[in-house]
Order: sequence, then structure tokens, then C-alpha cells
Amino acid sequence: MPDSEAGRDWSTAPIDELIVHIVNRHHTFLRRQLPRIEVIFDRIVGKKPDETGGIVLPLGKLFLGLRTELESHLLKEENVLFPYILRLEDARKSGSPTPKAHFGSVKRPIGMMEHEHDSADRVLQEMRRLTNGYPMEGSTCSNWRELFRALGELETDLVEHIRLENEILHPRAIRLEAECACASGS
Ligand SMILES: [Fe+2]
Ligand SMILES: [Fe+2]
Repeated sequence: MPDSEAGRDWSTAPIDELIVHIVNRHHTFLRRQLPRIEVIFDRIVGKKPDETGGIVLPLGKLFLGLRTELESHLLKEENVLFPYILRLEDARKSGSPTPKAHFGSVKRPIGMMEHEHDSADRVLQEMRRLTNGYPMEGSTCSNWRELFRALGELETDLVEHIRLENEILHPRAIRLEAECACASGS
């Protein structure tokens, strides 16, 4: 699918458009791919004899842990962090005081999200190590090739997703909060 937003400079785009991009592209990708990858795992586990060299169970366990963490992570962003960033942007535009939040500063949920990003990144690295980098050659099993391709695509998308949040969205949200505080003298 052609991506009209590829190459856009998200450091200067309106912050609400950046959030819509993250949700529509990266959160939607995860919600589609995570269940699909689990189906591929189930097909491989159900096959006899086991041609997996013993890695399918530890790999599947890592994947299931990652899936559970990510699904809860997406909800926290969509229900707590992103709506608060949009409220900060509205307050900045209207010159209103910094909106109140039960977590205090936006730095707190951001710290939690970045901690979870680090954890997801460690699981991705562990899955890559376990499979020797998702090699496409050498496997005669189409399920394995499909699994390795899907895990490789998951990693690529997640790395870009985390980069957009850690390096662009989060620093912009922290600056936005500081601007609101300055404008309202709080
Ligand atoms: Fe996200
Ligand atoms: Fe995130």
C-alpha cells in the first residue's frame, strides 16, 4: 500500500496529526499482525515431527509475552497518554492553564511507556538471537518462512514506531507541557 505520509517531517507536523499517524499506521499494524503471527505459531506447533530444532516453544513464549505487553501498552497510550497530549495542545492554543491529570506531569506516563519500549526491544533482540536473525534460506517449511518474514516485519515496524514516540512525540509533549506552564504562570 503506498504511504502518502512516508518521509514526512514529524518533528514539525501538527502533534495531533502525528498521534493519528502513530495510531492508524503502527497501532493498527500491531492489532492486525499479532493475532496473525500467533496463528502461524499454532500451525507450526501442531506439526509432527518437530522440525523446529527445539526453538519453537521458547520463541513462542517470548512472542506471547511480547503480544500481551504490547496490547496493554497500546491501550495505555490511546486511553491515557495520547488524550492528555491532545489536551495540552488545546491548552497551548487557547492559552489555558496546564490541564490537570491524575499522574501529575506528562513525564510520568512517558517514563512508563519508554520503560515498556525498552522491554519490547529486549524481547525483539532475544527472538532475533534465538532464530539466528530469521534466515529465509535453508528452511524447507513454508510455515517457518512465513513466520520469520512476519517476525522480521514486526521488528521493522516496531523499531520505527518506538523511534517516533521516543525521539519525536515524547520530547514534543514535554516541551508542550512546559509551554503551557509558562503561559499560565504555573
Ligand atoms: Fe504506540
Ligand atoms: Fe509506545
